[in-house]
Amino acid sequence: MAKFPITLSRFIIEQQAAHPEATGEFSVLLTQIGLVGKMIAHDLRRAGLNQILGTTGETNIQGEVVKKLDQIANDTFVRVFEQSGLVCVLASEEMEQPLKMVHEGAKYMLLVDPLDGSSNTDVNMPLGAIFSIRRSQVGARRGVEDELLQKGTQQIAAGYVLYGASTMLVFTVGQGVHGFTLEPSIGEYLLSNENIRIPKKGKVYSVNEGNYHRWPAGTQKYLDYLKVQDKATGRPYSGRYSGCLVADVHRILLGGGVYLYPGETAKPEGKLRLMYEGNPLAMVVEQAGGSATTGLTRILDVEPKTLHQRVPLIIGSAEDVGQAEAYIQGRA
Ligand code: AHG
Ligand code: MN
Ligand code: MN
Repeated sequence: MAKFPITLSRFIIEQQAAHPEATGEFSVLLTQIGLVGKMIAHDLRRAGLNQILGTTGETNIQGEVVKKLDQIANDTFVRVFEQSGLVCVLASEEMEQPLKMVHEGAKYMLLVDPLDGSSNTDVNMPLGAIFSIRRSQVGARRGVEDELLQKGTQQIAAGYVLYGASTMLVFTVGQGVHGFTLEPSIGEYLLSNENIRIPKKGKVYSVNEGNYHRWPAGTQKYLDYLKVQDKATGRPYSGRYSGCLVADVHRILLGGGVYLYPGETAKPEGKLRLMYEGNPLAMVVEQAGGSATTGLTRILDVEPKTLHQRVPLIIGSAEDVGQAEAYIQGRA
């Protein structure tokens, strides 16, 4: 008889049973993230029919055009977590200030990129959501801004939802990385990728190569290196880039290789956001045995100065990331 599939709820309950100190709240929190994923996936499936494509006419705190779906995704996180009572602050890429939620005893802080890859919305390409969970010592009543500004090593859980050909929830609570696929007919996430391990080295690179002439020489040299033919080291690598960080990193997580959004000569901080994108994906990839760096520093060790700060990101298979670092640092 075929094995009965493991649902997200059952998986979480079983994991919790292994940690008697756990209160169960954390499990609810992960389930709520799954719920947001289901709600957004539902919207995205009909996006081309419901006049929810295109822009709102506004720009966000990052100075970027806000898509209607960015707004919808952000509102969905706010609605779900205002009701959950577990989160004392919600910080989002789409909100200038973190949203305090005064819930008695709420001890979690949630940081989200509610919709990642939003330039893909109008063309039916993959999208994602990224989340990072931290524990608060003080709670919303006493102000939590300073508490949010801590290194990525302080995350207690992180992950993403990928809205691709199917919807997936991939997360870590610091004990490996697990992937669940949404079975739409029953509305349940089922365990599809248990204990994901990223290969030590891959054959794929993922980068917006249109920026080549903006990169410092070391980064250019690394990209040139990846394209040289050399059977022994598996080169040339294949280029794959969807414009959705979640989708591109997911491919690398499963198949190996390296994703780069490097610093540019005139913009050394790069494009991606440390708190909403870099840190959570770094925790996931490290938990799967890979690495994530700015080129100079481990992402999870970067001391944040502001909530919306940007960071160069090179993430993926440990060997590939190490080699990229060697080029960037002028050691190769
Ligand atoms: P977001 O949609 O949350 O603003 O993120 C967009 C990010 C990321 O998903 C993607 O990897 C990158 O921006 C694409 O940027 P380019 O268009 O510069 O390649
Ligand atoms: Mn993003
Ligand atoms: Mn976004």
